[in-house]
Amino acid sequence: MIATENIIQQPLSELVKDCPPVLDFLSAYRLEVANESFAALAASLSAEFWNEFETNADELAGQFVDFVEGMQDAASVQQIHSLEVIGGQNKLGEPEACNLLIKPGEITCIVGPTGSGKSRLLADIEWLADFDTPTKRRVLLNGELPDENLKSSFGGKLIAQITQNMNFVLDMDVQSFLLLHAQSRFLANADEKVAEVIDLANQLSGETFDPTTPVTFLSGGQSRALMIADVACIGQAPIVLIDEIENAGVDKRKALEVLVSQEKIVLMATHDPLLILQADRRVVIKNGGMHKIIQTNEHEKAYYDELFEIDRKMQQARNFFRLGNEYHGAF
Ligand SMILES: Nc1ncnc2c1ncn2[C@@H]1O[C@H](COP(=O)(O)OP(=O)(O)OP(=O)(O)O)[C@@H](O)[C@H]1O
Ligand SMILES: [Mg+2]
Repeated sequence: MIATENIIQQPLSELVKDCPPVLDFLSAYRLEVANESFAALAASLSAEFWNEFETNADELAGQFVDFVEGMQDAASVQQIHSLEVIGGQNKLGEPEACNLLIKPGEITCIVGPTGSGKSRLLADIEWLADFDTPTKRRVLLNGELPDENLKSSFGGKLIAQITQNMNFVLDMDVQSFLLLHAQSRFLANADEKVAEVIDLANQLSGETFDPTTPVTFLSGGQSRALMIADVACIGQAPIVLIDEIENAGVDKRKALEVLVSQEKIVLMATHDPLLILQADRRVVIKNGGMHKIIQTNEHEKAYYDELFEIDRKMQQARNFFRLGNEYHGAF
């Protein structure tokens, strides 16, 4: 970690070696890396510069320090290479039949009848349960009980949750909302990331919106698509929990592909056979307990293609009737 006073006093040519994104910060203000320090550079700037960028020396120095410190925090983020749920007890007080171990880049589904305890399992993970929930489960990250250090190394955002009823309450347009998020993460290419998120959200929801749309105007499907795209492209949370997004107007298959390609740990409660078979494995919940873990087998993978075709037809019909068409024997 570079000490705060050194950020301002160290020659920029040295600082940039430890923190290359400094180049992006300077170029945003049309400044170049010099042998002098940031403090010296700022002192040499003209009144025109301060007018043009509507800032002053103290403010710019503050921003620069925040930027460099933020970049260093982001670089020191630890990797999560496993999530493990150690079984506790089911609703009858009997020990659970198995534990659950998930690695990044894998999709695991949680299946079971209504009321069996799927959402409870997600809630235990989100809580990082440690014998302190009704299930008496424990959640381990990288094989250990997560300590404060690990939790805070992700800027407090270790786990992202995507649920059915998610709405925005902010009075802001989509672009400003995302930009704020990208800047809070000190992403050097914030504008590009924002464009990427909007493009992905539009692909996921199928009902396009533009960057100037107020977030409160988004439909349920668009909101969830935006959340998923944001979690995938900007959010740093390494663990993503999804509770039944099936009827949510989102291309769920693509959403899963995108999340998994970002090497996140993805766990999803669902009743949808297509999503279940897209997963690598599923944990079956019975009476509130983890009952067994099933790896998706070869027959199931082949059956997935069949179901996919049926689902495609359903979607085609849905769109056809939704647009006010009448069926006369052919689409
Ligand atoms: N092991 C357990 N011990 C005690 N209570 C439990 C246990 N597992 C689940 N429960 C409780 O059972 C109730 C139903 O569980 P939950 O809401 O997780 O079901 P679900 O599978 O998500 O259902 P749905 O498919 O309808 O969403 C909840 O109140 C939950 O806290
Ligand atoms: Mg549920």
